[in-house]
Amino acid sequence: MARILGSLLLVAAAGAFTVGAAPAARATPTPLDRVVPAPASVTPGGSPYRITRGTRISVTGSGEARRVGEYLAAVLRPSTGYPLPVTANGHGGIRLRITKGVFGAEGYRLDSGRGGITITASAPAGLFHGVQTLRQLLPAAVEKKSVQPGPWLVAGGTVQDSPRYAYRGAMLDVSRHFFTVAQVKRYIDELALYKINKLHLHLSDDQGWRIAIDSWPRLATYGGSTQVGGGPGGHYTKADYREIVRYAASRYLEVVPEIDLPGHTNAALASYADLNCDGVAPPLYTGTDVGFSTLCVPKKITYDFVDDVVRELAALTPGRYLHIGGDEAHSTSHADYVAFMDKVQPVVAKYGKTVIGWHQLTGATPAPGALAQYWGLDDTSAEEKAQVAKAARNGTGLILSPADRIYLDMKYTEDTPLGQDWAGLVEVRRSYDWDPGHYLDGAPASAVRGVEAPLWTETITDSADIEYMAFPRLAGAAELGWSPAATHGWDGYKVRLAAQGPRWDALGIKYYKSPQVPWPTS
Ligand code: ACM
Repeated sequence: MARILGSLLLVAAAGAFTVGAAPAARATPTPLDRVVPAPASVTPGGSPYRITRGTRISVTGSGEARRVGEYLAAVLRPSTGYPLPVTANGHGGIRLRITKGVFGAEGYRLDSGRGGITITASAPAGLFHGVQTLRQLLPAAVEKKSVQPGPWLVAGGTVQDSPRYAYRGAMLDVSRHFFTVAQVKRYIDELALYKINKLHLHLSDDQGWRIAIDSWPRLATYGGSTQVGGGPGGHYTKADYREIVRYAASRYLEVVPEIDLPGHTNAALASYADLNCDGVAPPLYTGTDVGFSTLCVPKKITYDFVDDVVRELAALTPGRYLHIGGDEAHSTSHADYVAFMDKVQPVVAKYGKTVIGWHQLTGATPAPGALAQYWGLDDTSAEEKAQVAKAARNGTGLILSPADRIYLDMKYTEDTPLGQDWAGLVEVRRSYDWDPGHYLDGAPASAVRGVEAPLWTETITDSADIEYMAFPRLAGAAELGWSPAATHGWDGYKVRLAAQGPRWDALGIKYYKSPQVPWPTS
């Protein structure tokens, strides 16, 4: 009796003061469309589903689909404290189902109602992306690693979703500063939150060669022995690289390895004197200048080197692409550049891969099927833009990485403690507010294969630095790659983006609190 009276008094107290609104607000599920990247279509309606101690995750489909179920369980168990067994019997509150042929390679449908949540896809990648949407529909505290109070409600209705572009990338420069396998895995997990599906690793540059090549061992052991600022650098063994590829694949990302050629090659030239036209190896380099190094285009050994590197790297890489750089070859004559690309692109094809090059490749003759990665600025010359657009009209696919929009190493404002500003200051709105389909004048929308957000690391040394520069802009790049143009709009986006802040807090991601975004205050 005393206990009941006590409860009544508490209820009365809650009613008397407006603080009683707080628990009620927590019990309101996140609106079904408050997701980044914006889903293609959202139909809210019906009762919410509540995850409880009795919820099961049932998976119908392959063993791979079951692994997606286990991944979801691993996200939900620590914060809910529930057992959430993964079963195959079709009876669960959360059901993951593979249905052949309806949703494309990466699309999914999420149905939520009182009786449960069903994510349906045609392939495990679609289930995985649907799981990322489900995470964002739960309270941000779901991302914590200790038991939280809940309740764990998901709004009722249907999300039907598939990507605008097949190529949605992020690049990490592991050459200017080296990042460990664990640091790369952490970034992969963060990319997966936003349905990014390509991890481009910039594996070589003037300051460091980061992948073991058995036939040219000094590339890694000597060429990888330092980094910007003179620290010890490092490199990936083949086992390390395979582990990155495996982990990325478990999050439905394809690794795109880059060996930057024929410029940005000081680490290789320092490792093998014979690669230099004068036969003299330069010293290792730990500064941040660009454009001073070049392979020796007339020498035969240059092509033995390229063949060996491409062969070994292609053998390690299950993905379709091999990026050969091609940017800022300021120490290579134009004639040599064209001759070099004419000889090297067929080597990539010989080992079964598709060429990607920075957009300077369009100044040579891009191989059939090659993709050019455009990294120009608003004030890039009309001539250079026209050259890229012409290649696009002639069949070269484009990946858009405009440096004054989505280079994640650009400072947000003058006060940003990290990063560079040669492409300008890039606040969150500027990085989001453009349309990849109509970005480069004269390039047909059909040439655009997607969007990639590169992160160069001259000033970036650890995961906290990566995260501060990537968040929040990475989420915008992901939305530009995934969401239909019809969903695009800053006013709606900034609200959805603001809702990510508490998720990043829960995940331990220290992000830039841009004043352009209405972050929740509590
Ligand atoms: C580049 O930023 N040099 C591709």
